[in-house]
Amino acid sequence: MGPGDAGDAAINDIDVIRVAGEARLAGTVHVVGAKNSALKLMAAALLAPGRNVITNVPRITDIAIMGEVLRRLGCGVRFEADDPPDPMIARDGSPRSRQVIIDVPEEPGAEADYDLVRRLRASICVLGPLLARRGYVRVAHPGGDAIGSRGLDMHIAGLARMGAVISGEHGFVIAEAPDGLHGAEIVLDFPSVGATENLVMAAVLARGATVIDNAAREPEIVDICAMLSGMGARISGAGTSTLRIIGVPELRPVRHATVGDRIVAGTWAFAAAMTRGDVTVTGVPPAFLEVALDKLVSAGGLVETRGDAFRVRMDDRPKAVDVVTLPFPGFATDLLPMAIGLAAVSDGASLITENIFDGRFMFANEMMRLGADIKTDGHHALVCGHERLSGAPVRATDIRAGAGLIIAGLCADGVTEVSHVHHVDRGYPDFVADLRALGIEVERGTAPEEPDLAI
Ligand code: EPU
Repeated sequence: MGPGDAGDAAINDIDVIRVAGEARLAGTVHVVGAKNSALKLMAAALLAPGRNVITNVPRITDIAIMGEVLRRLGCGVRFEADDPPDPMIARDGSPRSRQVIIDVPEEPGAEADYDLVRRLRASICVLGPLLARRGYVRVAHPGGDAIGSRGLDMHIAGLARMGAVISGEHGFVIAEAPDGLHGAEIVLDFPSVGATENLVMAAVLARGATVIDNAAREPEIVDICAMLSGMGARISGAGTSTLRIIGVPELRPVRHATVGDRIVAGTWAFAAAMTRGDVTVTGVPPAFLEVALDKLVSAGGLVETRGDAFRVRMDDRPKAVDVVTLPFPGFATDLLPMAIGLAAVSDGASLITENIFDGRFMFANEMMRLGADIKTDGHHALVCGHERLSGAPVRATDIRAGAGLIIAGLCADGVTEVSHVHHVDRGYPDFVADLRALGIEVERGTAPEEPDLAI
């Protein structure tokens, strides 16, 4: 195709979401399965040859990429209508969740290339299961991303304790255990979610007992342990800091429902508070968001909880609250952009401290384009609230920053256009449909990408 053809325009266009400000969120939204669980559950399927079925899987880009990772490893991967179906419908008429059927061969492949891993950092979670199944694995090193540098040292040290020999060359991590892995006592330096998952997936087929101390306690860890137990794994302590795993010779395929997405649920909770709205969220146990919901109560909100649902109502301007991100059950780092958004419209000054990622404040400049008063220093941000922000064009730099900017736009005067919203699509099945369900005027379109200037 030559310059000026329609194909060129499509390649250079970027997706944007436009929202009108001075809005108020009201209504009910159902949240489907968690991205950060479903991705790992798909990788865990590699542990059992045969047909695994995972339901309540969100229809988002990252899941499609993980499907491709598994296909290249020799699995059959098919997405079908979810069972039970998603009670809400997305913009294009399709449900926001699906079930994925993964047919795992007796001998899966052992390599994951950079072209997929660079698009989905979570592809690194095939390391543990493939090493356990094949005794050899070669996965591209994912590198850092827009929220900071992201190491693999704890994944590697843990697998080495289990007998793997790890090396790196040409941008790949290579792990070998020709005689199989053995159980080990592992103490993590930090309760890393990804390292805990990789090590559990390796340990379930290792010889003997493994103890992982200072393990991550996130609901997604509990979910993967539940799926592995359904496959015949012997795991105790899920949801605590000490996981005990007794290896078994083989696992059987399973059908498993993904746990609800607490970060999506938390996004709507903050959006309700920021817009002085009234939102009921279903599909996620409120206990997954205890600290976040407590913050909204301190800010003056009313929170009611019942079963797998909660309601957040804010009648007056929120009061400033300080927030510190920590591993679960602490305040989730993935809700940091929403906490900054809330602080930006609250009465008073809030100190927001980020303890998990070194680059999470990089999006603050975009928030400042909306008139937010933010001063960052290392891992702290001091945010002085204004009654209203000011609508402007801004750019999404990652999934959560993108969602945070769209919501901040609802508290601005005028229109806010958030570009590069393909980042948001990586984590939210249909942000626009959910906003519309909550009464928001919103449109999605494309805008031309700035041309590269030749020199
Ligand atoms: N870390 C190391 N070495 C390691 C592992 C981690 O230094 O071997 C560091 C990381 O660099 C980071 C911190 O430890 O600074 C926490 O990393 P962790 O391993 O806990 O995070 P992750 O597994 O890479 C998952 C989610 C993130 C979420 C974090 C924290 C997935 C696919 N990603 O990442 O989600 O923020 O846990 O809860 O599960 C998102 O969904 O937008 C997202 C970024």
